[in-house]
Amino acid sequence: MANYKDEVIKHHDKYAKSYNRCSEWRINLLKKYSTKNSVLLDIGCGNGNFAIPISPFVKKVYGIDFCKEMLKELDIRKSAKNIDNIETHFLDITTNKMPVKNVDMVYSFSTLYYISEIETAIKQIYDILKPKGGTAILEFGNKYSIENYWSKRYGVPQFNININYIKEYMVNAGFQVVDMLHFQLIPEFFDKDVPVNNNVLKHFAFRVVFVVKKL
Ligand SMILES: C[S@@+](CC[C@H](N)C(=O)[O-])C[C@H]1O[C@@H](n2cnc3c(N)ncnc32)[C@H](O)[C@@H]1O
Repeated sequence: MANYKDEVIKHHDKYAKSYNRCSEWRINLLKKYSTKNSVLLDIGCGNGNFAIPISPFVKKVYGIDFCKEMLKELDIRKSAKNIDNIETHFLDITTNKMPVKNVDMVYSFSTLYYISEIETAIKQIYDILKPKGGTAILEFGNKYSIENYWSKRYGVPQFNININYIKEYMVNAGFQVVDMLHFQLIPEFFDKDVPVNNNVLKHFAFRVVFVVKKL
C-alpha cells in the first residue's frame, strides 16, 4: 500500500493533456455557493478542468495537486487564457500543510476517492475554511457502484467507502451537511447532468457530492 500514490501519480501524468471532464452541473454548484469575492481552494485541481472555468466568477482560486504534469498543463491553459487569479501548489493533501487558511470555499471533484486517509483529509478541509459559513463541495466515490468493482479489478487504486461513514466523518469534524447529490448510475458520457433521485438507485450511484458548511 505504501506505493499506491505512485500509481495514482503515474496514471494522472499520462492523462495530463487529454483529461477534459468539466461538467456543467459541477460548475453551477460552485457558482451557487460562491460570490465575486470568494476565495476558493481546489483539491486535486489536475489540469484545471474546474479552476479555469470558475476563475472569472470569483476573486481567487488556489489549486493543489501532487501530479507535476497536471500542474504544468494547468499553467499552459491558464496562460493561454491570460488568467491571473489561479495560484497552484505542488503538494500532497494528506501529508503537506495547506498553503492557505480561511478560504470561503474548498471544492474537490474526482479526487477524494484516491485518498486512503479520508478522515484526516476531511479534518484538514475543515481547518482551511473560514469559520462560520465556510463551504465545502466534495465529491466521493461509492463503495456500492459498478465503478468500485471495476477499479478494484482493473484500475488505479481507489478508496470508495460507505457514504454513511463519510457523512459521520463530516459531522464529527464539525460540518453541517447541507446537501448530498447522487450522480451517474452509468458512466458520465451517458447520464451527464442527471442527478439520481430514486431512493433505491441512488445507493448505487458512482458519485456522491456533499455540500457541507463549517458551523
Ligand atoms: C481524476 S483527476 C481530477 C482532476 C480535477 N479535479 C478534475 O475533476 O478535472 C484527480 C487528481 O487528483 C490528484 N490527487 C490524487 N491524490 C492526491 C493527493 N493525495 N494530493 C494531491 N493531489 C492528489 C491527482 O494528481 C489528479 O490530478
